[in-house]
Formats: sequence, structure tokens, C-alpha cells
Amino acid sequence: MKISVIVCAAGKGERAGFGKNKLLAPLYGAPALYYTLCAFDCLNATYTEGNLQKIAVCAPDDEQTKGLCLSLGWQTVIGGRTRTESVYNALACATGELVIIHDGARPFVTQKIITQCIDCATKYGSAICALPSVDTVAVAENGYIASIPDRNGVYSIQTPQVFLTSEIKAAYDCAIKSGEAFTDDSSVYSRFVKPAKLCPCGSVKNKKLTFKEDFSDGLCPIYINFNGGDKRIGFGVDVHAFGKEQDFITLCGIKIPCDCGLVAHSDGDVAVHAIMDALLSAAGCRDIGFCFPDSDDAFKNADSTLLLKKVVAIIAKQGFKPLALSVAVQAEKPRLAKYIDQMRKRLADLLAIDEKNVAISAGSCEGLGFVGQKKGVCVYCTAMTEDI
Ligand code: CTP
Ligand code: MG
Repeated sequence: MKISVIVCAAGKGERAGFGKNKLLAPLYGAPALYYTLCAFDCLNATYTEGNLQKIAVCAPDDEQTKGLCLSLGWQTVIGGRTRTESVYNALACATGELVIIHDGARPFVTQKIITQCIDCATKYGSAICALPSVDTVAVAENGYIASIPDRNGVYSIQTPQVFLTSEIKAAYDCAIKSGEAFTDDSSVYSRFVKPAKLCPCGSVKNKKLTFKEDFSDGLCPIYINFNGGDKRIGFGVDVHAFGKEQDFITLCGIKIPCDCGLVAHSDGDVAVHAIMDALLSAAGCRDIGFCFPDSDDAFKNADSTLLLKKVVAIIAKQGFKPLALSVAVQAEKPRLAKYIDQMRKRLADLLAIDEKNVAISAGSCEGLGFVGQKKGVCVYCTAMTEDI
């Protein structure tokens, strides 16, 4: 069966007040829309390329949003003044038998939610991601309660919403003719076709980013869905002092010429040490000092890359594998720029991850502190792990 996905990204984000489309605002280092689009990568395994159509609706003057969508392999369609018009425009291009419609502003949607909605729509002809209300809800008139519906029958409506494409197209034709603007697709479908089927798979985590605070408040990166698995983040730092009589230092397993080496119990690979601590931290394990104590002669002059392999085995026992690294080196000497590519490749090989998931930056300290005075090297690392 062929399926189309429509992601609505043509809004202005006025309530968020960033002065541009809120979906471009950064969330943990990437535009919020990036996560929304990547969440649908989970369909790649089930639907072959010809059976999966991905359409993003972008405002006509919003080249940045359009560029992001195209770079992630989404076709783009020009949006309208209202969400209703935007979806109408996208539906004109939808060729799947089923269509999933989702707000770009809900980046925390999970594979589970998407799959449950598709299954529900396959069975009932429509599926509206809905969250049973835990609050008592009131209908107000002039600031006073007019009525209180039975909470058991009250749901918050979210997206994704899945429909038979022919039915929702017909509903939107009527909606556009009516000239009314609807806030979601279930309202259009229920008004012009028939009552839409609720799929109670919604979640408070599947939040719609609406206000500025939503981009920083209470959202943990662990909820971010890249491909489905559980992600963890860890941070590590290490410092080693210059002073060893040798003509190189070792960083990320690469020997780099230098007028002296770094003093250490092991080979002094300060970068690999920071990386190991970051990985252990992400997996909730004790640090390298605990795993490989200085007092143990087995680790004297040890090749740190072998210890890194051991760390991968330790975190594997906890159910995690490395996914991505961001490494920042502070060193006044030696100059590192021309070694960065080799260092990235070596780390990617050691951890069996994609080279593009390894970032290394290097800088000096403007003559300040122990790094600036060429007394030592300091490395920081953030690591991300995922479920095995
Ligand atoms: N949207 C759209 N076309 C529009 C208006 C909205 O595609 N003309 C999209 C938004 O980009 C968003 C989703 O519909 O992903 C839900 O809308 P909302 O949260 O209201 O976003 P904005 O309209 O951008 O925000 P605001 O109402 O605060 O301006
Ligand atoms: Mg809006």
C-alpha cells in the first residue's frame, strides 16, 4: 500500500515570537522541524521508496524551511494563509491511498504513535491521535462555567491524523468552499465526511511547540526521536600536563608531532579519556578512574584506544551503543587543524559509528590559564548513546 505523509510547516509562529517561523528555532542544536521530519524515517523500513511520499508544506517566502525539507528528502508544497489552506494545497499532490497529516510543531512524535495511528486508520478508515483528558474541562460563557462535560468523554486532539486520501480530499474541498478555517484535520473530516475515529495513543510528550518557553521548558532530549531508539547523553572532561620527554602527543588514537608528550599513567590520550567518560556517563556507569584505576599496572602505558573498546563493551552490558560524539579540544600547542579529519575517522572506526556523527573542534585559550600557558591540554566531550 502506498502512503503519503504531509507535515505542515507553513506557519508564522506568531505566538512563539521568534520573528521567524518557530520551526526553525533550535531545539538541542538543530531546528525543531528537523526532528519532526526525521521522526518519519521510521517508515522507511516498512514502505519502499516508491510507496512512501513525503510532502512538507512551506510558506512561499520561507526559503530556509524549504531548504531544510529538501535536504532531508521531502518534496515541498507552497502553504496558504491558514493551516486549512496549507493542508488543502498539500493534499492536491498526495498520491497515497492513506495520508498521514502532522504538525511540524510536534517534533516529539514517536514511532509508536505513528504506527498505532496507521494501524487504526487501516482498520477504521481514519485515526486521530488523541489524549484522554486528565483534567476536568469546562465550557465557558462570559467567563463563567456554562457546562462541564463528562471527563471520560473528553480528549485533547493531537497529530498525526491519518485518513483515506480520497475522503479527506473531498472533506477539504468542502472546507475550502465554506471559507472557514479549521485548526486541525479531524474537524474538517468530522464536519464534511463522518465522525473521525479517535486513536487514544496521544501523549503529553507529543507536545505542540507554541510559545517561546515550549522550546526550553521541561523537554528532555531523551524524548527526541531520531529513529525510534532510546537516546542518552553524557559529558566527560580530561586534562593532562605536558612534560613527558617525547616528540608527539596522542589524540583520538593519532600521533601528532609536538615538542614534548603528555604525562600520564596510560599513553596520555586525553581526548579518548574524555570520550570514555562521556560514554560511560551516558550509560549511567562509573567513570574511567573506577573502571581502569591508576593503581593497576595493567593500564601502565596502556593504548587508550584499547580501553575505549573496553568501554564500548561495558556500556553494551547496560544495553547501550555509541551513536554520536562532539569533542572540543583546548590546546595552545601543537596545531591540530590538519589532523582533525584523521582523528574523526579513527574515532568513527573505533566506535563503529558514521564519521558524520563525530565532530571535533580545536582551539587555543588566548594565552589564559594552564592551556594558554602551554602547561597542558584539556578536552571536553559530549556523547550520545542509543539502545542496542
Ligand atoms: N501551519 C501551516 N500553514 C499555516 C499555518 C500553520 O502549515 N498557514 C502549520 C504550522 O507550521 C504548524 C502547524 O500548522 O506546524 C500548527 O499550527 P500552529 O501551531 O498554530 O503554528 P503557527 O501558525 O506557525 O503559530 P501561530 O499560530 O502562533 O502563528
Ligand atoms: Mg497558527
